Amino acid sequence: MNIVCIGGGPSGLYFALLMKKQNPAHDITVVERNKPYDTFGWGVVFSDQTLGNLQAADPQTAGEILGAFNHWDDIEVNIRGHKMRSGGHGFCGIGRKRLLNILQQRCEELGVKLVFETDVQHDGQFPEADLIIASDGLNSRVRARYAASYQPDIDLRKCRFVWLGTHKRFDAFTFAFEETAHGWFQAHAYQFDGDTSTFIVEAPEEVWIKAGLDKMEKEESIAFCEKLFAKYLDGHQLMSNAAHLRGSAQWIRFPRVVCRTWVHHNGGAPVVLMGDAAHTAHFSIGSGTKLALEDSIELARCIGKSPGDLAHALADYQAVRSIEVLRIQNAARNSTEWFENVARYAHLPPEQFAYSLLTRSQRISHENLRLRDKEYVEEYEDWIAERSGVRRSPLQQPVPPMFTPFTARGITLKNRVVVSPMAQYSCVDGVPADYHLVHLGARAMGGAGMVVAEMTCPTPDSRISPGCPGLWSEQQRDAWKRIVEFVHTHTDAKIAMQLGHAGAKGSTRVPWEGEDQPLPHGNWPLISASPQQYLDGVSDWSRAMAREDMDRVRDDFIRSTRLAAEAGFDWLELHCAHGYLLSSFISPLTNQRTDDYGGSLANRLRYPLEVFRAMRAVWPERLPMSVRISAHDWVEGGITPADAVEIARAFKAAGADLIDCSSGQVSKQQAPVYGRMYQTPFADRIRNEAGIPTIAVGAISEADHVNSIIAAGRADLCAVARPHLANPSWTLLEAAKIGYTDVQWPVQYRAAKSQLERNLEREKAMAAQAAALSPLEQANLAQGV
Ligand SMILES: Cc1cc2nc3c(=O)[nH]c(=O)nc-3n(C[C@H](O)[C@H](O)[C@H](O)COP(=O)(O)OP(=O)(O)OC[C@H]3O[C@@H](n4cnc5c(N)ncnc54)[C@H](O)[C@@H]3O)c2cc1C
Ligand SMILES: Cc1cc2nc3c(=O)[nH]c(=O)nc-3n(C[C@H](O)[C@H](O)[C@H](O)COP(=O)(O)O)c2cc1C
Repeated sequence: MNIVCIGGGPSGLYFALLMKKQNPAHDITVVERNKPYDTFGWGVVFSDQTLGNLQAADPQTAGEILGAFNHWDDIEVNIRGHKMRSGGHGFCGIGRKRLLNILQQRCEELGVKLVFETDVQHDGQFPEADLIIASDGLNSRVRARYAASYQPDIDLRKCRFVWLGTHKRFDAFTFAFEETAHGWFQAHAYQFDGDTSTFIVEAPEEVWIKAGLDKMEKEESIAFCEKLFAKYLDGHQLMSNAAHLRGSAQWIRFPRVVCRTWVHHNGGAPVVLMGDAAHTAHFSIGSGTKLALEDSIELARCIGKSPGDLAHALADYQAVRSIEVLRIQNAARNSTEWFENVARYAHLPPEQFAYSLLTRSQRISHENLRLRDKEYVEEYEDWIAERSGVRRSPLQQPVPPMFTPFTARGITLKNRVVVSPMAQYSCVDGVPADYHLVHLGARAMGGAGMVVAEMTCPTPDSRISPGCPGLWSEQQRDAWKRIVEFVHTHTDAKIAMQLGHAGAKGSTRVPWEGEDQPLPHGNWPLISASPQQYLDGVSDWSRAMAREDMDRVRDDFIRSTRLAAEAGFDWLELHCAHGYLLSSFISPLTNQRTDDYGGSLANRLRYPLEVFRAMRAVWPERLPMSVRISAHDWVEGGITPADAVEIARAFKAAGADLIDCSSGQVSKQQAPVYGRMYQTPFADRIRNEAGIPTIAVGAISEADHVNSIIAAGRADLCAVARPHLANPSWTLLEAAKIGYTDVQWPVQYRAAKSQLERNLEREKAMAAQAAALSPLEQANLAQGV
């Protein structure tokens, strides 16, 4: 096969040498515009795992790379005079020049033709080629030429950064944060050879402009960085080797590149994207070179696996690599956003700031950090626990963040787990009876700090369905009181009431008889901010509320609030999410009013705030109130997370104690991006920008998730819904799974506690043993042979 690689960076060179090694008969050329040993950049880092992949692909280059690597384990975070270290991270650094030299040499040894100082204009220059690799980097000319086919999506990120070097030798991967009058700057530094370190300086573009860096010559901006980070440099200079870039042009915005397809067929040789030309991953997770090299390994493998069927091999390559790249790009996006928003986190105590940084990509969780550095995690757990007023004796286990108490006003929850409100549609005439006693009672016994009753309605016509609970009568109050008293008498959990009005989403059947479908008969009139039909052509139309309706509904909420206090609830939540009545005022998708309650966000919030204030005025002073919001409508033109921060600020000013950060369900046009803890970024942003405690919710399904969220200061409580339907004792089970035995079980259930803990320990030991066994031995072990 005749193969041409356009671009002699890591991906082009490595693919060329792997293919030549696979079949010396291949005629392979790498065409590079630079001189042989001439390149930009300083060092790059790999994780230990990447080295394993290189070792398997070509032991010879892996050996040389390994010999040239500078290895370190620690990450050090510096902010406001504090220095925090954690270990076990296992990184290697190598000079980019050194890496390229090793790959070039190996190419020459194997017989790959290297052509330098040739700037390729287009792939048509190689009519003899059977396969053309576009390994021409992040500004790929080939990609631009066939953009219609590759469909690249290029997102220029918010920060400006410059890639510098220094002879100061850092003995850890070092992050340094410095505040200026214009905002925060950060440096990412690591040593990559005997006497040189990479030193990347970064700041949000507006901070960079305010600091005047856009107008500075190269020398001036280097001097600026040297002065700002002087205390980390010990007198060493910063150096630039981007000779081709002048003035502020050496500060670039990172382009996040995603391509829909990676192979272009134009009748001749297929043109295949590889490395940065196909995708980029922000440098803060150090994966660009790894991805480039792993692309090469995979394409060589696919071609080797399907000899004579190039089309099949290329389809395989794209299928396998695009999934892995997406995974890394997701982590890289989280990491990029974290560094773009340092100002959001800089107010955290330095210890928590460092933890937040370490877990920023969400690839490294609490338990994963523990595997890396147990001592660091245990010390940090003690620190978090002490801040919640818990001090353990040396004989006790460290308290995981999930099991630290949380106080709002006069109420202290024993831990950070909340049973999220979940409609059960199992009442008659709005009266909660035995079903709710068992349902909520069982969950209160299951170890959560608090259970939240489902959306309960102030009037019959504010219900979602005829099965929804209500709180408009003394009979309902007393029925709730029975449940509250059970929880208070038999458990140490707290219990919250969630009050909400269904608005345009009311008068529907219970879900198992047709979700969101109007009742077959007996429908009641619907109201909302503006006329709407929740399901086009299906739901009944709602009418816009007049001022008299607003007064009536507000007074209904006041009556229910009083009844909730009389029933003895510990906590009250106002439901302003999911497209129900109050949410319909907040979202521009459902509010088209032209009076004082429509238009700007401040106007749209006016009525929900009025209801909230009226409730707060009659709800006991010592008891907290939270507000559930949809922090993202997931629809163009709807509520965004930035709006959600403003919404939270407004409720905070009105006296809310926490914001419960849900999302969506406002419009059927929504396109949410689901995933683990997918709504937690909203809780994080609101907590750290609006300065109000938050409840995170949504696909939080393990203790490890809760611990990571609480420890990083991304939320104060975690609401867990569906896992509690599967298991009322979710909290107790999760405690046992992470080996935390210092939790209280209901006295009646104690006999099960130590048995569960022992069984889980045994399962863990068997899994560890099995991992070290052959498949046959594993099967025997599973069968008890
Ligand atoms: C500040 C910064 C820090 C980074 N840190 C790390 C890190 O720590 N770890 C890591 O793994 N990655 C890091 N990266 C990313 C890494 O540099 C890239 O992901 C990696 O180099 C991609 O390899 P590549 O071969 O695809 O592209 P490149 O390395 O960009 O190589 C492309 C080559 O093609 C050549 N070329 C381009 N156009 C033409 C043309 N028309 N004709 C001929 N030749 C052409 C270029 O001269 C270049 O040599 C960092 C990147 C930046 C910007
Ligand atoms: C059956 C069911 C009923 C729900 N009812 C309510 C409700 O009454 N009030 C509310 O605010 N959210 C309600 N939700 C949303 C949950 O509280 C929670 O936000 C959502 O399920 C995401 O959390 P999870 O991933 O842990 O399930 C309900 C969810 C489910 C599954």
